[in-house]
Amino acid sequence: MKKIPVIIDCDPGVDDTAALLLAHQMPELEILAVTTVAGNVSVDKTTINAMRVRKASGAGYPVFSGAEHPMFREPVTASGVHGEDGFGGVEMEIPDDEIPAEKAWDAMYRIAKEQKGELTIVATGPMTNLSIALSKYKELPQLVKRIVIMGGAAIGGNVTPAAEFNIYVDPEAADMLFQSGIPVYMCGLDVTMKAYITPEELEKVGALGSPQAKLFHDVFQNLQKKALEEWEQPGVALHDPVAVMYAADDSIFETHHVGIRVETKGEITLGKTVTDLYSDKQMEHNAYIVMDVDRDAFLKKVMDLMAKY
Ligand code: RIB
Ligand code: CA
Repeated sequence: MKKIPVIIDCDPGVDDTAALLLAHQMPELEILAVTTVAGNVSVDKTTINAMRVRKASGAGYPVFSGAEHPMFREPVTASGVHGEDGFGGVEMEIPDDEIPAEKAWDAMYRIAKEQKGELTIVATGPMTNLSIALSKYKELPQLVKRIVIMGGAAIGGNVTPAAEFNIYVDPEAADMLFQSGIPVYMCGLDVTMKAYITPEELEKVGALGSPQAKLFHDVFQNLQKKALEEWEQPGVALHDPVAVMYAADDSIFETHHVGIRVETKGEITLGKTVTDLYSDKQMEHNAYIVMDVDRDAFLKKVMDLMAKY
């Protein structure tokens, strides 16, 4: 089977950490690079965390650091959810590897050219790096096969009632993506909230026994407590693992071809992903929205992949 060449653009981040651990074990994917962006925490911390996960998983991909703040706005972080260090409060030494001077957006362009139009970019943080790459390299849309994002929602939000975090942090960047002409597959809250892991299932991952399974288990402990006690959810939503799982194999998901644009001017609705999925089909159908998942199949994949460590 020909592997899918991917770049994972992320803001680790507890669920980004899980996504990277899982992606490393996915036979369908060849991770050519991980790029980091300011999001859950500052970009210096997301970069350290990406390097921590690379070392912990035994991966060899390069990590390129990216944008320190959104295109036109002040940074918004989620340290209250992911911890001050963005690593769920898990103590882990900072790898002493050198961070390449090449910036995330330049690496994206270089690798897209090398892959001759076959590259998939999976974005699980604010899409600032992608929008910088699109602004700097006009021919990028002809070089990227598809972009799979964790972000947005047809209905609802988690920062405001209208907006999901990755879109809310940099709405202009997200809207640039949807207008770029590159096929964008949006794994929003509609599907990621269904892809939750219960405390019992999380304990089963931890019980697999490898250091990587323990890391997966440990990084989620604080977020799980919040999800159960504050948000009254049945388990922790595996937001970012959905995006990498979708990129590898979309067969357990439900996808619709729709129009999607982002509200960048609103006050109450700032960062809302507007889609015509539930209305008259008045928009240009420029994207794909993922609305459902076979949760049992998804969780089985999580367990099987983590058992490979
Ligand atoms: O809304 C969830 C998204 O925001 C996830 O990617 C999480 O890591 C945060 O970045
Ligand atoms: Ca993320």
